[in-house]
Amino acid sequence: MRAWRALRRTAASSSSSSSSSSSSPSDAKPRRRAWEASLSPLERVRRLLPPEEAAVGAAAAPQPLQASPDKEEEMEVGPMVEAAGRHSVPFRAGELALAEMRRKHNTTLKLLCRLAAEAVLNSSGGVLPHRDIIGQLPGQVLRTSEGKRLLLRRPSLDEYVLLMPRGPTIAYPKDISALLMMMDIHPGDTVLETGSGSGAMSLFLSRAVGPKGRVLSYEIREDHHHLAKKNYRHWRSAWEKGHVDEWPDNVEFILKDISTAAADMKSVTLDAVVLDMLNPHCALPVVHPSLKQGGVCAVYLANITQVIELLDRVRSCKLPFLCERIIEVTHRSWSVLPAKLKHYKSSQMVETQENIEELPPNEYEEIHIQHQAVLKESEYNESLSDAAETNHSVPYIARPSHWQEAHSAFLTKLRKFRPLLS
Ligand SMILES: C[S@@+](CC[C@H](N)C(=O)[O-])C[C@H]1O[C@@H](n2cnc3c(N)ncnc32)[C@H](O)[C@@H]1O
Repeated sequence: MRAWRALRRTAASSSSSSSSSSSSPSDAKPRRRAWEASLSPLERVRRLLPPEEAAVGAAAAPQPLQASPDKEEEMEVGPMVEAAGRHSVPFRAGELALAEMRRKHNTTLKLLCRLAAEAVLNSSGGVLPHRDIIGQLPGQVLRTSEGKRLLLRRPSLDEYVLLMPRGPTIAYPKDISALLMMMDIHPGDTVLETGSGSGAMSLFLSRAVGPKGRVLSYEIREDHHHLAKKNYRHWRSAWEKGHVDEWPDNVEFILKDISTAAADMKSVTLDAVVLDMLNPHCALPVVHPSLKQGGVCAVYLANITQVIELLDRVRSCKLPFLCERIIEVTHRSWSVLPAKLKHYKSSQMVETQENIEELPPNEYEEIHIQHQAVLKESEYNESLSDAAETNHSVPYIARPSHWQEAHSAFLTKLRKFRPLLS
């Protein structure tokens, strides 16, 4: 704690001395660096330390990059490249890159593309040839043809599933995490899912059970089956290009109505089951004999009426399941922003930067352009104003964001039990 306070003091004095030493009019108001706000607090502090202290830990910095972005960007992203460490692999053709562009009204535009030497990344702020990205380490800021800054990095799995091509609605990542926890999935487990849909859940299950585990993914519709396989394959192949370790090839996509799969079930023991399909009660009599005693069947349902129908069917068919929990996962987004002081004739009013700049954005605005997907989302962590960077006494205003994600689902946890023999 004491060390942290010392760091903060150093940061405060360093930041005030750097601002007081500027003499030219253009230096009087330091220009805000767009991506600085997205750095961790420690990284921000490190940037403010004297060079010899900041250099500690930078010894393992990677060699200069093959391609050279403009000098200004190189200087700005230097510490990010250092922090990447020696396990970081430069972008290669064939893998996925996510480009983030800060926009007006506190929004971020996210563009997902598969890198190919001859392709270009299109955005409303100009184009960027993929060959300028290939060879760079993730975390670089590059400029488009119109001079707009794009932060390039690898997408996380939740970003990929939100941006990949969709057939049926996916299970949202916030719900998937809760389902994984409900089922208490471990590496090495065997899990059954129905239906495969667009393959979002399959990808998360694949990661959770790992290379020694197995996922059986049933799907009744051929088009959905192929889409899920394709999305899974694309993620795996992109992963392999950008990472040292392999993504496990542990999902068996099976084109079959789950209610006709009783014979398949005879040869497996399932650690858990997850159902995201219409009429999940049709699957229960088929899958429950293979689910281990005490195992969990998690069911994703769109509304509470479906939950009642499911539980009624469990009761009337005397299926050996106890309903342990029904949850709706809601996330409440918050805005935490430095206040801006507005001067009036006789009074002073404090407004958040958001009040001035933020318009309530729509829900995810998503466009797919050939091999490029675009996602526009509200920006929760607003960048700091110039005043906030140099003056630690600015007031902050914290409140729930104007825009809240509306998507909702009911996650039902059924536990298999062995009925008492009477
Ligand atoms: C909402 S989608 C699943 C989305 C998936 N969880 C994801 O994250 O991408 C429901 C899927 O269940 C499939 N389905 C419905 N009834 C089925 C059945 N009896 N057997 C197998 N699949 C079924 C549908 O065709 C559809 O693709």
